[in-house]
Amino acid sequence: LKHIAFIMDGNGRWARRRGLPRYFGHKVGYDKMKAVTKRCSELGLEVCSIYAFSTENWSRPQEEIDELFRLIRENMHKDTPLFMEWNIRVVTMGDVTRFPKDLQDKLAEIVETTKNNTGCVLNLCINYGGRADIIHAVNKIRETDERFLSGAKGSYRGRADITEQEFDKLLYGADLPPPDLIVRTSGEQRVSNFMLWQMAYSEFLFIKPYWPQMTAKQVDKCVAAFKKRKRRFGKIG
Ligand code: FPP
Repeated sequence: LKHIAFIMDGNGRWARRRGLPRYFGHKVGYDKMKAVTKRCSELGLEVCSIYAFSTENWSRPQEEIDELFRLIRENMHKDTPLFMEWNIRVVTMGDVTRFPKDLQDKLAEIVETTKNNTGCVLNLCINYGGRADIIHAVNKIRETDERFLSGAKGSYRGRADITEQEFDKLLYGADLPPPDLIVRTSGEQRVSNFMLWQMAYSEFLFIKPYWPQMTAKQVDKCVAAFKKRKRRFGKIG
């Protein structure tokens, strides 16, 4: 088990159940993201991915988007010393260029500060979508792969076929192993446009707790459940 990815879901419902504003759910959710990452690091995992902002989340009310940005801009930045202490390297996955410039700068600073840490990678999936990831890769090929330009103008004739391995390298997070386990909280059983290509052989866990109810112990339970799975990768067991 190298890579666990979390679809953090249920922040809003958790807050509403307590008569609190949705924002409060995100705030507690953010703290849980830290606790979960810390546990993944303690367990010696290579990567902990967190689906923090999807390409579809732009259609939420602007106030909620602003609150989420504020968590990244302020808390994430303030917590950088913790990530250093835990030896966590922060990276992002997704098109951050759509974020406000100061937010991009803050993120770049956190990535830069933590870049030599050798423990767990915290892979923040922000403005990420599985389809957007694939289309972004396709467009990179169009722009850069000379095999696509070698035929007559405007035609793709004469190029060699792109292999899965080559395509893989063009996706966001190309230097990370694919997720072995994807955990979604809050009881919903869906994929919501997360790592569509990368999840080809992932195991899934859909667990009941809302994300703000996540604990280190829950992470341990997920790892234990994963270890009982028999992965066959299309072969015979
Ligand atoms: C899911 O709950 C949560 C989100 C869509 C956003 C979570 C983002 C953060 C906590 C920001 C922290 C991120 C970083 C990168 C520092 P939901 O709102 O969909 O819950 P609901 O389904 O109950 O409404």
